[in-house]
Amino acid sequence: METHVLEVDSLEDCRKIYKEAAAVLADGGLVAIPTETVYGLGADAFNPDAVAQVFAVKERPAFDPLICHLSHARELAEITEIPAELKSLVDKLAKEFWPGPMTLVLPRKSSIPDIVTSGLPTVACRVPSHEVMRGVVRALGHPVAAPSANRFGHISPTSAPAVVKELGGRIPLVLDAGACSEGLESTILEPCLDEKGNPAVRVLREGPVTREKLRKICRVLKPVRGAVPAVAPHAPGMLKSHYAPTKPLLLQDARTPFEPEEGVAYGLISYQGDSLLAEQDCWAEVMPLSPGSGRLAEAAVRLFAVMRAMDECEAVQVIVAEKLPETGLGCAMMDRLKRAAARCEDGEL
Ligand code: TXA
Ligand code: MG
Repeated sequence: METHVLEVDSLEDCRKIYKEAAAVLADGGLVAIPTETVYGLGADAFNPDAVAQVFAVKERPAFDPLICHLSHARELAEITEIPAELKSLVDKLAKEFWPGPMTLVLPRKSSIPDIVTSGLPTVACRVPSHEVMRGVVRALGHPVAAPSANRFGHISPTSAPAVVKELGGRIPLVLDAGACSEGLESTILEPCLDEKGNPAVRVLREGPVTREKLRKICRVLKPVRGAVPAVAPHAPGMLKSHYAPTKPLLLQDARTPFEPEEGVAYGLISYQGDSLLAEQDCWAEVMPLSPGSGRLAEAAVRLFAVMRAMDECEAVQVIVAEKLPETGLGCAMMDRLKRAAARCEDGEL
């Protein structure tokens, strides 16, 4: 299959492109669509055969449910049944963080096919801030079910060329609106009641809407202590090993000297590029995430692109990533890096 890439320029009238993408989706086809977090592989959420294609193209196991993208929070009523005791919390979260990089897991209606939710009684919903995804959803008139547009377990794509590398030849259409502005997948939340019966949220996946931001709005339940779980009980897709480059990736404290093995070529992903670690002379390549200034938002935008670049760098056999400060966005980035490293720790490589 030939993969067609259509450039979308936000300054132009894009309605024709949205219609074209919506026509492919309405016909049961798949389209890679940009969002502010990462590129998504979209299908009409109400068409189970199209959604089945998403799993096939991504080589994704059927137990890993998809996120439904909406163009406005009012569309939640079409696919979810929000319990009365959570209604005001959901409204507050939607008002504060939508459109934007937050996904809410809510009890679903039967309008959503089982295949979207992997049979779960809940559905994950998001109103993205990216106008292209919202434009396509509006043009289709249905929610768009879209996981990240990568093959299962690989690094999420944050640009159209990265999508083409992952899925070129497998899908008919990619909408190219340039690089994603957030660069990390959305924060996934499950609104719930705490032990006293008060509304709260459980964080199922760390992301751009940080715990610090959430705490200003509502109670955030404490994460489960210990290492990244192999399978988080509430987010079936959150496997311990994920977001992985094809090369081994090791995590290393920036202040601890690295002891290289002889004959192995290492590449360092450094936060600012000027740490003690970065100054060691054992690196075949050093790629900083936020050169000089050390800004977490800049590092987040670049993380997946730098992981890809390291993976493709011929001079490097093993990737070493500096640990990042675990505050704000650093939590989500460390979550992804730990999952990328997990495969190595498990001795799978
Ligand atoms: O930023 C994002 O969220 C991107 C863009 C495209 O929107 N999408 C994305 O989708 O990262 P994906 O499929 O790669 O990750 C979705 C995660 C999966 O790990 C899945 O387990 C979880 O959402 N999920 C989906 N439905 C769920 C549900 N009903 N309950 C719990 N977790 C759910
Ligand atoms: Mg994904």
